[in-house]
Amino acid sequence: MAPKSCKGIITSKCGDYSQQILVISPIVRKKYMRLIKAVLPLQPVMGQKKLIRFAEIATFDHVLQYPENTAGKWQERFNNTNPIVLELACGKGEYSIGLATLYPNKNLIGVDVKGNRIWVGAKKSLQAGMNNVAFIRSQIGMINNYFAAGEVDEIWLPFPDPQLRISKSNRRLTHPEFLRKYQQILKPGGYINLKTDSPVLFQFTKLVIELYGLTLLEESDDISRDLKQNQELLIKTHYEGLDIANSKRIHYLKFAIPGQLDPTKDDRLSTMVREIETALIEGLKDEKETDRG
Ligand SMILES: C[S@@+](CC[C@H](N)C(=O)[O-])C[C@H]1O[C@@H](n2cnc3c(N)ncnc32)[C@H](O)[C@@H]1O
Repeated sequence: MAPKSCKGIITSKCGDYSQQILVISPIVRKKYMRLIKAVLPLQPVMGQKKLIRFAEIATFDHVLQYPENTAGKWQERFNNTNPIVLELACGKGEYSIGLATLYPNKNLIGVDVKGNRIWVGAKKSLQAGMNNVAFIRSQIGMINNYFAAGEVDEIWLPFPDPQLRISKSNRRLTHPEFLRKYQQILKPGGYINLKTDSPVLFQFTKLVIELYGLTLLEESDDISRDLKQNQELLIKTHYEGLDIANSKRIHYLKFAIPGQLDPTKDDRLSTMVREIETALIEGLKDEKETDRG
């Protein structure tokens, strides 16, 4: 039975989806029936596709899901001593595959929590017979479980979620909380590449670089103007194509972390983010907050 409080409106309190359909009032039903009819038959199909992908990646040797005992063993796994490059928030793994193709003498590892996205890159690399690509399905916050100190040469962050809400800024993948983790696994001299369409994430990362005294190696607020010959930056990802930020520009930062990030600066960062972004986000109404994941 649908709770009385629903009153014909679809709410999360109305029980499961079939109950929700039953409690829609005739007026609302008429308005939304065509939409509901279109969506309902699709639901099992979409779910099944994900399930098939989940089942399939479980059979892939080069996809490791929340693995154990990998730290310090990547050379053994790839059977060479080539540099290790990570693509964090890899989604469908375009950078893992693109860089592995550009650099057959580097080993690429894509990391993302979403198995059905990883499946796309994993399947492609398998079909192409690539032996220098692997994927880890996991939260990026757990990255230090998977790599030993100094085991990684380079990190790519292509179009990570900008996490536009100030209250969620510590979830940005260039927040000091994440950079501290990257610093532990990066080799001395290793570096990080951020590619983003989000002016907010771009400015935030520049602020972090400046405040914590990180080493800025390269910067562009429009790669199509400044870096159009750069083969690495020509690799295009799924989210790059979407231009969610509607900024019509791709920003790029390459930076290194020379030492530990000073924790006494964390409060200052929070204050500055609040001050700067309140104004910045106001001026960027077009860039909608989305859970892009
Ligand atoms: C906006 S999408 C970008 C995907 C891809 N890089 C692209 O450009 O198409 C962000 C991706 O980051 C992943 N992600 C976000 N936060 C994560 C986290 N903390 N740990 C693991 N994956 C995360 C999401 O699952 C999603 O696939």
